[in-house]
Amino acid sequence: MFNSAMAIPAIWWQQGSSASDRLARIHDRLLEAYPEVDRIACALYDPNTDLLKTFINSTRRGEAIHGYQYRLKDSLSLSELASAAECRVIHNIHATVAPDNPHSVWLLQQGYQSSFTIPLYDNGHFIGFLFFDSSRLGAFDTRKQRDMLLYANLVNMTLSSELNAVRIIQASALVARDFADLRDFETGSHLDRMAAYSRLIARFIADEEGLSDEQIEHIALFAPLHDVGKIGIPDRVLLKAGTLDADERALMQTHVEKGEKIIHKILGDFGLSEVPDSQIMLNIVACHHEYLDGSGYPRGLKSNAIPIEARIVTVADIFDALSCQRPYKAAWPLAACFDELERMVAAGKLEGRCVAALKASRQEIEDIMARLRDAP
Ligand SMILES: [Fe+2]
Ligand SMILES: [Fe+2]
Repeated sequence: MFNSAMAIPAIWWQQGSSASDRLARIHDRLLEAYPEVDRIACALYDPNTDLLKTFINSTRRGEAIHGYQYRLKDSLSLSELASAAECRVIHNIHATVAPDNPHSVWLLQQGYQSSFTIPLYDNGHFIGFLFFDSSRLGAFDTRKQRDMLLYANLVNMTLSSELNAVRIIQASALVARDFADLRDFETGSHLDRMAAYSRLIARFIADEEGLSDEQIEHIALFAPLHDVGKIGIPDRVLLKAGTLDADERALMQTHVEKGEKIIHKILGDFGLSEVPDSQIMLNIVACHHEYLDGSGYPRGLKSNAIPIEARIVTVADIFDALSCQRPYKAAWPLAACFDELERMVAAGKLEGRCVAALKASRQEIEDIMARLRDAP
């Protein structure tokens, strides 16, 4: 029997709250029964890149780690847990864990003495880990492990339903794109690169902007939808080889409002308006052509009136257009791309910190370009 403190708190299911909020409330409840559990954290797994990324955490003692990612294959012990679907208890961290990777070094510095790690699954697919840490030695005896598993199930359920909601939104927008034959116009690789560049920029400015890992992930997930409104643009304009005349350009620019309508409709049809961070998606679609000096469209918003997620995606989109070959231009070398972005920063159009993020991440950008090349 689970004791009464283990009952599912009703507040857990409150609509519209973020996974981080829900994790914090679960932690509150857990602390009533087990005050020695100082931290609960969840890392999400991306099977495409083999990266395990910090996602949400509730940290009451020690310093939270965020914006951190590493390859699952680089941690033998975690790889084994994931494939065997086994939990791991460490009664004495300092006697067991070697400081051989940044995560272990961080763990040792925090003063945690014991931990309990649980792999999470969605429909049989590994989706990440849940970590419980305590500054007390041997905090996780068999009885506690059983109770932590109950909590892990709750976190797993919430994560699965949230991931599914996000996937439904993404999938329906992408299916709509396929129907509209947009594949010829913008490649799948462009969409994947948009996710990767947007994540890279968001991570770089996360501390300054107060972006949580969860928000960073959502920016990356929703960035590829920025041009979803192009579904509504007639082919004669969308696929025109030469430059657009004034009327055609005006028509093309309506893809932003059309995109907003599509997103509103998807959210409404699937009852997903309450999905945490659905506003991030709307902001990206609605504001990815706005410039800081007010010269963008459709609203001519200025500086901070443009949501940070849109400022990030704007820089990512322009960078990708410059650095890739398009029917009307060759791919520019990185240095020329950065010069052009800097010129736009100096002209007051683009967010300088977003451009600085790209410039500081040359190696990562080259890796993304090599991994997500356009098909010849
Ligand atoms: Fe656009
Ligand atoms: Fe784009």
